[in-house]
Amino acid sequence: MVFAAIHNTDDSAANGSLAAAIAALKRQRHAVILAHYYQEPAIQDIADFIGDSLELSRKAAATEAEVIVFCGVHFMAETAKILNPTKTVLLPDLEAGCTLADACPAEAFARFRAEHPDHIAVSYINCSAAVKAQSDLICTSSNAVDLVKQLPADRPILFAPDQNLGRWVQRQSGRELTLWPGSCIVHETFSEQALLRLKLEHPGAEVLAHPECQQHLLDLADFIGSTSKLLHRAETSSALCFIVLTEPGILHQMRKAVPHKAFYEVPGADGCSCNACPYMRLNTLEKVWRCLQDMAPAIELDEATRERALAPIQKMLELSR
Ligand code: 13P
Ligand code: SF4
Repeated sequence: MVFAAIHNTDDSAANGSLAAAIAALKRQRHAVILAHYYQEPAIQDIADFIGDSLELSRKAAATEAEVIVFCGVHFMAETAKILNPTKTVLLPDLEAGCTLADACPAEAFARFRAEHPDHIAVSYINCSAAVKAQSDLICTSSNAVDLVKQLPADRPILFAPDQNLGRWVQRQSGRELTLWPGSCIVHETFSEQALLRLKLEHPGAEVLAHPECQQHLLDLADFIGSTSKLLHRAETSSALCFIVLTEPGILHQMRKAVPHKAFYEVPGADGCSCNACPYMRLNTLEKVWRCLQDMAPAIELDEATRERALAPIQKMLELSR
């Protein structure tokens, strides 16, 4: 059945057959499928749970399933493995990385820490296990401001690896942060000109932005927050039209939640579709099926690194309850 589905030219029929095959394998493997909002709609539709980085970490920490299929990027699946060392954590495409994690190699981060020995190191969850293992506290875009505000006022703070998120946290919390110079290719790609044009075309529209965006775009936003906060805002705002400055995968849930409202994505500078995360989009329905079939690729971690990376994640989960 699956072979036929994969070679079917009708996309929705193929997706339907694959979804049925995935559901059967999922039961057989006692697996749960977690998906980030940036996954392609067909993957979101077969997930047991869809969420932002914080919600997915919480789900990964609480699941009783024996196998976690993580439809997201490598650092997310790695976080699930750090929290669940005895479970099998599958990532449909092992190449699904992240420019933020890549921008912060563990050896360079160790030097950064050594240059600032008195600082508390807060790392955005978009980093490798080796960087988490050297951090005092992990945060996500959902809880970063709140967590930084809870840190002792007399201690200086390092923030890695996203400088755009760091600057926003700085403004929101009133705390001075020493920033690592990383950024996300997707959130740095949005065209300000296209945004201004969309605002002119839709004068009543609310602009929703993720804090990974650059300052000049955040200055044009009406609401700034993590993906789940943007979704919640779209549901609860009285506005009927939204321009969304984040990866367009989130529009699938926005349109499902409030179908009577209109949503517009912002293209990249050349009108390109580079506003879609090339790493997130490496996962496909077929790869989800294949990883459950093969029980691979699975995330493997060195135990000493895992143990050291666990402490700052647990601290985050405790402080952001
Ligand atoms: P959140 O899901 O925490 O909003 O983060 C967005 C992101 O870029 C994930 O890589
Ligand atoms: Fe990384 Fe940006 Fe893709 Fe998120 S959207 S996974 S931060 S490259």
